[in-house]
Amino acid sequence: MRLTEVTPERLAGVDPSQVDLFDPEFHAGGDPHTVWAAMRERAPLHLSRLPDGRSFHSVTRYHDACQVLGNHREFTSERGSLLNQLGHGDAAAGKMLVATDPPRHSELRRPLNRMFTGRGLARSEHRIRAAVRALLARALDGERAPDGERSLDGEPFDLAREATMLPMAIAGALMDLPEPDWADLVQWTGMAAAPQDPVFMIRNSHATLAIAHHRLFEYFEQQYEARKGTEGDDAFRLLMTMRDGELTREEVVVNCYSLLLGANATTPHTVAGTVLALIERPEQFRAVRENPDLIPGLVEEGLRWTSPASSFLRYATEDVELSGGTVPKGGAVAVWVGSANRDADVFPDPYRFDVTRQENRHIAFGYGAHYCLGATVARLTLRIFFEEVLDTVEEFTLAGEPRHLTSNFVAGLTGLPVLARARRTAEATA
Ligand code: HEM
Repeated sequence: MRLTEVTPERLAGVDPSQVDLFDPEFHAGGDPHTVWAAMRERAPLHLSRLPDGRSFHSVTRYHDACQVLGNHREFTSERGSLLNQLGHGDAAAGKMLVATDPPRHSELRRPLNRMFTGRGLARSEHRIRAAVRALLARALDGERAPDGERSLDGEPFDLAREATMLPMAIAGALMDLPEPDWADLVQWTGMAAAPQDPVFMIRNSHATLAIAHHRLFEYFEQQYEARKGTEGDDAFRLLMTMRDGELTREEVVVNCYSLLLGANATTPHTVAGTVLALIERPEQFRAVRENPDLIPGLVEEGLRWTSPASSFLRYATEDVELSGGTVPKGGAVAVWVGSANRDADVFPDPYRFDVTRQENRHIAFGYGAHYCLGATVARLTLRIFFEEVLDTVEEFTLAGEPRHLTSNFVAGLTGLPVLARARRTAEATA
């Protein structure tokens, strides 16, 4: 996420009691990092009251975030884990992985773990690489002058928009979803994750969310029917057959929805946000170019820096002490992941983007039982993306203003116009 520097003057100007973190607009046009810094310092357990009477606490410090996300006995996921659902409960509670507490959560999660980690993924690597190469080829195409010579003033390429298709190369394949459907699925998951954003909004945010849910659930129901009696080793069929086919059609459908949303709503924002961080800090790009062993460090720092899954909600099952006070039984708590990942108690010099950062214990993938199922997949995608960038791109430059997503759930960019200059290898220039 592009960052206004957190200066002492800005920090002093923030009054946490006037902050409205619920407002999606604030995350697109405001300065959440300065506000979060002020909250970590002065209001680590912060109560927000909405005009309609609903309320929630916010935690912004790293250790509080880990306590809330990591202790399902004190903080349940079964009343919904998204701020948008505040006070409405979750119809998928106890059915969808992310909205289920252990022990049921472990029963659902264990069979999926194997598919989303380890050897199963090696087969996906070539698909991801092909998708990344195609994306970068399009980015570099703008550079080609009509006579075939390369010129530097090519066409701007919207990296944020183009990156939205990347997760389908793996999630689409892992779930065996037909490729012609991928563009629609990306559009609908975008609408579901950020219904308030002008890029996705149809009429209003409620209508947008309803349309997205309708389309996605109807789609997965059709896919379910088409798969009956067929065989395959994809995640969709695994959900249909796990525990002797115990899951209902509705349970399979909501979990497919959650898998696809988890993949599509996050990884592209780390791709775009990390490229933006590198554009703003060319010395970091050069450091990785000179030493590709730093790619894993770049990926982890990119995840910490962008923290695309911005907030998650839990409800206290009893009165719980956290720094700064008590969350009463039944109270909702929003964990601000991007803030926890800038906590100076854990990350020295937290506003410095540093590909050589040691002990980068970020919680971009969450913490505890719900730790992201797709973390290995996401890391693989990001590693391959940057390997290919280093191979083919000499530099990215900004060709316009980045546009931030309007959402209190996902932090990211909906627009990142860049110019990509191709790397001239010795072979190519000979
Ligand atoms: C940069 C990429 C990603 C980030 C930052 C991210 C972040 C997260 C976070 C913070 C959680 C915890 C939610 C909670 O505590 O309530 C989570 C859970 C989850 N993620 Fe991801 N995610 C990413 C990519 C993916 C991908 C690629 C997939 C699927 C292929 C995926 C699927 C899921 C699922 C299914 C869960 C629920 C796990 C559970 O409840 O046990 N995510 N993710």
